[in-house]
Amino acid sequence: MKTIGVGLIGTGYMGKCHALAWTSVKAVFGDTPDIKLAALCEVTSELAAKRAAEFGFAKSTADWRELIADPEVDVVSVTTPNQFHAEMAIRALEAGKHVWCEKPMAPKFADAERMAQAARRSRASAILGYNYIQNPAIRYIRKLIDEKAIGAVNHIRIEMDEDFLADPNQPHSWRSEAAAGYGALDDFAVHPLSLIATLLGRVEAAFGEMSKPYANRPHQGGVRAVETYDIATALLRLPGAISGAIHVNRCAWGRKGRIFVQIFGARGTIVFDQERFNEVGLFVAEGLEEAQGFKQVLMGPAHPPYERFIVAPGHQMGFNDLKIIECRQLIGRMLGEKTLAIDFDEGLAIERTVHAIARASRQGGWATV
Ligand SMILES: NC(=O)c1ccc[n+]([C@@H]2O[C@H](COP(=O)([O-])OP(=O)(O)OC[C@H]3O[C@@H](n4cnc5c(N)ncnc54)[C@H](O)[C@@H]3O)[C@@H](O)[C@H]2O)c1
Repeated sequence: MKTIGVGLIGTGYMGKCHALAWTSVKAVFGDTPDIKLAALCEVTSELAAKRAAEFGFAKSTADWRELIADPEVDVVSVTTPNQFHAEMAIRALEAGKHVWCEKPMAPKFADAERMAQAARRSRASAILGYNYIQNPAIRYIRKLIDEKAIGAVNHIRIEMDEDFLADPNQPHSWRSEAAAGYGALDDFAVHPLSLIATLLGRVEAAFGEMSKPYANRPHQGGVRAVETYDIATALLRLPGAISGAIHVNRCAWGRKGRIFVQIFGARGTIVFDQERFNEVGLFVAEGLEEAQGFKQVLMGPAHPPYERFIVAPGHQMGFNDLKIIECRQLIGRMLGEKTLAIDFDEGLAIERTVHAIARASRQGGWATV
């Protein structure tokens, strides 16, 4: 494969991140085929043409089926709202195109299953936008766990909080519609679940609670009912008798991009916060008690693939860099390499957990995943 032709559907928040990743991946990693920004799709021809000019795509269209059918498109980035993922990703896989689909897979489990089936049937690669697992800090934490730096892990606790829906006067959007899913569970909880899958394995059982802080939001001069749950909590049982807890909240004033991870083991603790995502905190119970304490490890070229971005330690990576790494992982799979990414099968296991948490919340008891 000499050139990869990219098709992008959706150009909002994530669409721009995908466009930036496709633009930068070769310059950062150096070892990829040439990337051609072939075609872009938006809801209107005008918006599509405007974005294509801004992002540097050769063609634009308001018809995503036309983009998928385009012979110059080898891989499709799906960055539309959740309820469109299944139809677009399945159509792309059936057309033999590789797929980079944003998380979550789909609000309905049956649709996520159909996506996983389409990926299994296809010879193309398909991954999901679980960018946080790509952080060099997370790879380092995985290494610490594997090397038993904190002994046998017994508990993981992850909080994911942001405040973009904290204001009750924030207008209604697709994120408050039931068509997009449960709310904080499939918008946020899937990210902690992707970290748990990467660090410790698949969840076996869940206990959950979902809540709705605001019943209505402003909409077209009036108000419209909020159909989703912006706060969710889950207790988890993991392999090896490890217990877990996740707390997610889209209405958490003051929290901008917090994913606070604590991993407890028999001889130490690892802490990580996405708002300080170039640092890993490590406590090991050794040496004089009076000298014990957390040490902060600042990411640098010793923590791959940090060195691909900048040679200087401590100069900090950012969110878009995680998308560039994720893009390189997809290209690796397209080239037959084994790379770190959440594919549609692993994604389905995350969806299964999300639905188990929701079921547990409704039933008031533990649900098997
Ligand atoms: N990985 C992450 O960290 C992360 C962060 C935010 C959002 N997301 C996910 O990304 C997806 C998009 O979220 P967003 O925040 O970018 O939303 P957004 O509203 O900013 O952008 C969505 C874009 O899709 C376009 N669109 C909608 N229907 C379309 C269609 N039929 N054809 C072409 N374009 C269409 C919209 O016009 C809009 O520009 C969601 O699934 C969300 O869960 C992932």
